[in-house]
Amino acid sequence: MLRGAIDSLPPAMRLVTDYHFGWCDRDGRPVPGDPWSGKALRPALVLLAANSVSGADLDARTEGPVLRAAVAVELVHNFSLVHDDVMDNDATRRHRDTVWKVFGIPVAILAGDAMLALANQVLTEGAAPVTPAAITMLNEAVQELIEGQSLDVSFETRAEVALDECAAMADKKTAALMACACGLGALLGGGSAEQGRLLRLFGTHLGVAFQLADDLLGLTGDPRSTGKPANNDLWTRKKSLPVVAALTSDTDAGRELAALYARTETWEHADMARALALVEEAGGVAWTRAEAARRIEQALSCLYEAGLRTDPAADLAGLLRLSARRDH
Ligand code: IPE
Ligand code: IPE
Ligand code: MG
Ligand code: MG
Repeated sequence: MLRGAIDSLPPAMRLVTDYHFGWCDRDGRPVPGDPWSGKALRPALVLLAANSVSGADLDARTEGPVLRAAVAVELVHNFSLVHDDVMDNDATRRHRDTVWKVFGIPVAILAGDAMLALANQVLTEGAAPVTPAAITMLNEAVQELIEGQSLDVSFETRAEVALDECAAMADKKTAALMACACGLGALLGGGSAEQGRLLRLFGTHLGVAFQLADDLLGLTGDPRSTGKPANNDLWTRKKSLPVVAALTSDTDAGRELAALYARTETWEHADMARALALVEEAGGVAWTRAEAARRIEQALSCLYEAGLRTDPAADLAGLLRLSARRDH
């Protein structure tokens, strides 16, 4: 259904979106086997959440809207990635040049916009449109994501960022869409209001754990598995969660890191290596691991409380663990 939806875009946008999903190269030549499409975590959350609240696996009545929601959430996610790479000035994603790098910034903005509009079309058009409540849920998540992204960008030029502000930013830029994916599954799968609330909270904790893992990968991830450049967040002096934990640690290492971050000159390789060591020494990495573990526990208690069907609930727990302990 995702490919079918993308096929309906104007031809100029299709080349760009097909490239982004890894279905073709920059000249439009097909790439077999979808090697670079992304992990599809968010649509999996929609489908599993829906299955977890229903008496049996999806039936014909609910399958249409649930699948539509899964596709719409993945489109919103990919809109945010294409724009995020422009905002972060990142040249590599999913092991390839980013959309703006290949096609230019104006085209990347348009392709992101096209995917966002398409997400709403997928929800509202065709034989099995979703309920207005589902449309509202997705659009509210988009607004939160945008707020989170704007906070992320504003932190780059701010001298001081508190750790709770940084956590609130991650909650909005990443966890809001994960919570929405789980909430949409619960809603469209026919779950109770309480199951919807608990599954959304599960998605929030999973989302923050996911971003904590992403921030660690941004520090020390291996580009061969992440598909993104090594030490990327440090080179761009991002105020990611481990970095802010280190900067606010009230330690000598934290203060030295703050001085390094405040320097206006471009870093040499030695500065980068020093910054990495300082984040570790100031406890930024340990804090991030501990916070991810705490989020996993909280997410698991939401799952237990929600009274879900065993097999899909176990799969949700599996996705939670993967989200927090991943290499890409
Ligand atoms: C990357 O998300 C952006 C973040 C929220 C950290 P994913 O790691 O889920 O991206 P893909 O879709 O699998 O490439
Ligand atoms: C993640 O942004 C959130 C969104 C894309 C909305 P990041 O900038 O932290 O993620 P990566 O590391 O580029 O995927
Ligand atoms: Mg980024
Ligand atoms: Mg970003």
